[in-house]
Amino acid sequence: MAINLKDSEFRTIQKIVFSEVGIDLQDSKKHLVQSRLLKRLLFYKFDSYVDYIRLIQIDAHERVEMINLISTNETYFFREIDHFEYLQKNILPKHPLKSKFRFWSAAASVGAEAYSVAMLLDQKVARSDWEVVGTDINTDVIKKARVGLYPEKWSDKIPLNLKKLYCLKGKGSHEGQFMIERSLLNNIDFKVGNLMQYNSEVGLFDVIWLRNVLIYFDDDTKQLVVDNVIKNLKLGGYFLYL
Ligand SMILES: C[S@@+](CC[C@H](N)C(=O)[O-])C[C@H]1O[C@@H](n2cnc3c(N)ncnc32)[C@H](O)[C@@H]1O
Repeated sequence: MAINLKDSEFRTIQKIVFSEVGIDLQDSKKHLVQSRLLKRLLFYKFDSYVDYIRLIQIDAHERVEMINLISTNETYFFREIDHFEYLQKNILPKHPLKSKFRFWSAAASVGAEAYSVAMLLDQKVARSDWEVVGTDINTDVIKKARVGLYPEKWSDKIPLNLKKLYCLKGKGSHEGQFMIERSLLNNIDFKVGNLMQYNSEVGLFDVIWLRNVLIYFDDDTKQLVVDNVIKNLKLGGYFLYL
């Protein structure tokens, strides 16, 4: 079933998405948005996007559903290995032994980045004295991150020694998947968080990564998000954004 999303309706959706989460939906994304939101129209038995727009204007829960469908959540374990090597070789050795090492994956998606860092920290930081926090605006990806179950293929870039220790091969109904070793979960917390606001409740961090998310924002929003996030950086901490 095809329902046409008119240009004027798309502009209204662009404004709502921008004011909620700062994502600057390009005009070229109109067809993508139309197809991703169609399932919500069918769910409510709406025959036009106008009805759906009226709903998201008054219903915060449905706005969350919409953002879940619209946000781009592509991620990988050990994405861009240089960043992990820098963390391992240049940051961790300088960390004072007495204080807990805190890392924030500030646009965590389904958790691949947070778990990759957690594997390194579990190996390198004494007495498991570390903590990883992952936040994302998308409530569906945060649920998946908490479960920590991924397709087998996703483990390709995980260094072999870490894969052996932290990736449990799925059997039976989990054939073709791997699960993150449960002991890592003791030191990881995944929460819903919007970068458009200062996330005071997550506390201060030694290292913050804000990777592959600023591309979705316009210049003013990039500045706002960076200003918000650096409030969570410890004095002398490291902030990586790109
Ligand atoms: C492409 S993923 C990047 C994941 C990971 N950082 C990486 O580099 O592999 C971008 C994530 O940013 C999230 N995001 C977008 N806008 C956000 C906002 N305003 N607040 C928090 N997260 C947001 C999306 O939901 C998505 O999961």
